[in-house]
Amino acid sequence: MNLLSVTNLHVNFHTKAQELAALIDVSFTLNRGERIAIVGESGAGKSVLGFSIVNLIGKPGYIHSGSIRLENDELTKMNLRQLQEVRGKRIAMIFQDPMMTLNPVITIGAQLVETIRSHTKISYKDARNIAIEKLNHVQIASPERRFDQYPHELSGGMRQRVIIAAVLLLNPDIIIADEPTTALDVTIQAEILQLLLAICRDNGVALVLISHDLGVVSKVAERTLVMYAGRIVEEGPTLEIINDPQHPYTQGLLNALPQMTLPGQRLNQIQGSMPSLIERPSGCAFHPRCPYAKEKCKKEQPSFIHSGVSSVACFLVEDMINEFANQDQEVSK
Ligand SMILES: Nc1ncnc2c1ncn2[C@@H]1O[C@H](COP(=O)(O)OP(=O)(O)O)[C@@H](O)[C@H]1O
Ligand SMILES: [Mg+2]
Repeated sequence: MNLLSVTNLHVNFHTKAQELAALIDVSFTLNRGERIAIVGESGAGKSVLGFSIVNLIGKPGYIHSGSIRLENDELTKMNLRQLQEVRGKRIAMIFQDPMMTLNPVITIGAQLVETIRSHTKISYKDARNIAIEKLNHVQIASPERRFDQYPHELSGGMRQRVIIAAVLLLNPDIIIADEPTTALDVTIQAEILQLLLAICRDNGVALVLISHDLGVVSKVAERTLVMYAGRIVEEGPTLEIINDPQHPYTQGLLNALPQMTLPGQRLNQIQGSMPSLIERPSGCAFHPRCPYAKEKCKKEQPSFIHSGVSSVACFLVEDMINEFANQDQEVSK
């Protein structure tokens, strides 16, 4: 059984003027211990998806339809108390800004101890020992000293390590990390990602890594989902997505990576920008930016088709596959 199954998920924003679709027909699965990435430019719907999984999507957003199953439990049908059990204990979230989780007026140590003692009945001293051990585990130097410090006394990278330590305390099945390193220096970014990878691997924790940077996720995630304008447009093993991207949007994302640009050359950004929810184009939402768009792309939404080990929603790919199939038939006649 899949650990997590998201099926035909639709999330809307209910505004005064109109009903806006933020996620359209999103489906994917996550196995125990598996690491997947969700990538796409800013505004693609990645955070909305991350929040929706734990039913934390705030007003005016709401889950319109679809299913989110954590093994046998349907998260969309849970009441607040049941959801609170799931959040943290079974699914933990890590955000770009650690201060969304840390309390600025309480020491790091006190926050960790409280987390431990809210789940297990042990003495303060024992909880303190566990907290210090976890700080050690996430490679925080002189953890005894850090224990008594306030969040603002730590660097951004160190704060993110504290969050990972706190997440570890709860022993979750899944970590959803939403741009966890975007706010950090490049060298610190790599360290935190390596830490997250090691923690997940060593403890059998599944990871949903959300990032706008295909380069970042390629080092961590086994499978990658590419999002555009609230839909998944391509899904496959990360190596395949990087080496043989099928959707023109995925190709554009890959081309735009700094690694793909020669020194002194300008970045190959995809022309145009992600549409807002109000102005989502008809047909395939990427068509106004797509170098290969045909008439059909402007009118109809392509459905998902298998292309090798990937799945992709694109008429270009679909037509190509059909053409190959026809050629094969001609040859065998
Ligand atoms: N509270 C909200 N009310 C209305 N629209 C929202 C709200 N939160 C996000 N959106 C819209 O939903 C879309 C997806 O946002 P988001 O998931 O934050 O994108 P990403 O994380 O991929 O950058 C964007 O167009 C954004 O403007
Ligand atoms: Mg986001």
